[in-house]
Amino acid sequence: MDPTILASLGLVIVLGLVLRPSKHDPREPPFLASRVPAIGHLIAFVVYGLRYFATQSAKTRVPAFSIDMLFNKVYVINSPKLVAAIRRNHRTMSLDPLFTRTAQCVGGIHGPGLQLLRGKESQGQGLGHATTAALRPALLGEGLDQLNRKMIGYLSKSVEQLKSRGTVDLYDWCTLAMTLASTEPIYGPMNPYSDSNAREAYWELEKNLSFLMMGVAPWLIARKAWKGREYLSRAFLQYYQADGHLNSSQLAYARWKTQHDGGAALEDIARLEAAMGLGILSNTVPSSFWAIFDIFSRPALLQEIRDEIWQNALSVTTEGVHTVDLADVQERCPLLLASFQEMLRLRSNSLQLRVIYEDTMLDDSYLVKAGSIIVIPASVINRDEAAWGADADAFNPQQFISTAAGEKRQKASAYMSFGSSPHICAGRHFATGEIVALLTMLILQFEIRPVAGEWVEPPTNVNAVAASLSPPLGQTSVTITERPEVEGVKWDFRLTPGRGRHGLIIG
Ligand code: HEM
Repeated sequence: MDPTILASLGLVIVLGLVLRPSKHDPREPPFLASRVPAIGHLIAFVVYGLRYFATQSAKTRVPAFSIDMLFNKVYVINSPKLVAAIRRNHRTMSLDPLFTRTAQCVGGIHGPGLQLLRGKESQGQGLGHATTAALRPALLGEGLDQLNRKMIGYLSKSVEQLKSRGTVDLYDWCTLAMTLASTEPIYGPMNPYSDSNAREAYWELEKNLSFLMMGVAPWLIARKAWKGREYLSRAFLQYYQADGHLNSSQLAYARWKTQHDGGAALEDIARLEAAMGLGILSNTVPSSFWAIFDIFSRPALLQEIRDEIWQNALSVTTEGVHTVDLADVQERCPLLLASFQEMLRLRSNSLQLRVIYEDTMLDDSYLVKAGSIIVIPASVINRDEAAWGADADAFNPQQFISTAAGEKRQKASAYMSFGSSPHICAGRHFATGEIVALLTMLILQFEIRPVAGEWVEPPTNVNAVAASLSPPLGQTSVTITERPEVEGVKWDFRLTPGRGRHGLIIG
């Protein structure tokens, strides 16, 4: 670790010792001490990233435990039953403080602009919540159809280009293809991410996010991430000044209009939009990589999915054009959608946070105190054996196929990969449509083989803390070749409007 980072961590730690959390009440979840009091868990989180809580949970094997993390007491939740209790008590806790902190540390929004965004529970004006609420309808119905139509066009183009590429780094390729397929439909012809410098700026920000989120002298301890966010915020400011949002999507327009009508300055709107990249890209890109990895590294599964799509979603016109309606893939190819959901179940490291406003009893068994934070590690809940069986750690897409209603409910309560109500992922249908479309195009047209001969799981970047599926580190070189059976075939991928929603299990 860089010495300036260490020095700054030292400063945060000293501040934290002054503001230690309150005494432990016996009704609270049991306390888990760290070897280094007050700061041990924080340092371990910075070093090990999102997986740290899951390893602690595995050690304790209790439904919930408490830890000190500098300024705050944190309750780590390990049981789906307590997740349901948290959902029921959503009025005494909120995600808003995390949103505000992200706007401040990632967006660089301060002063009255931040006060506008802050939740009403924290004496702000609630514009952040309103901006997220405005985005939800724009990711359903006509807004979703509009995005999907353009997204399929961009993806088809990127996939077509693979025919002349041969060997690629799989993660680099996914990053470019998915960044364009996601942001071009959202931001329209003046999309800031069309510029490679803006894309680079975003990924620098994302890769080093844990340092930026500390919020201490970012120009010093998170220099690359800080420079990235400043570049991207300027690019978005120019976008709004040139009226790019007036010719974009329902999503981009609704977010701009809500903030504009709420009194936000254009510079702050631009800064918040730079931070929105975390919602749009940070999960979609690694999810696409891991979905390809998990399916192509299992030849029998790959063949079964290929046959499924071929039989249920493909038609050939009299001119020989192979046409695939992606709505048919969603509705008639259960193994593909199940494999995607199973990949998310096993690979999600998402940590769902809630800040508690009022002392609350969870399920009549644990007291959680006002001012503390709840953390729900998806990687623990998603492997709950009561819901997923004794082999909950094994990759088994059948978990999501032909499940009886009662069992489906139990699985839904133990599936955190798209979050938990009332903060279920707003972009889940768009993201799922995008990844299912990408997989369909690749599975039908190509063989993908690792240059090294065997699929070897790469190490991951623990500092990309917005990514609930950690991105791989280093290169994953693969050779992509057109399948001889379909060489020279003309393809037409489309999605019937109104059929863009997926039957996903959500928590
Ligand atoms: C495979 C891709 C994706 C995954 C795995 C994913 C996962 C998640 C998770 C776990 C949460 C819950 C956060 C929490 O409770 O703390 C969430 C929330 C959210 N996601 Fe996604 N996401 C994906 C793609 C997207 C996309 C493409 C968008 C936007 C276009 C998006 C927009 C959002 C928003 C706005 C929220 C916050 C909802 C709220 O606070 O009410 N997501 N996502």
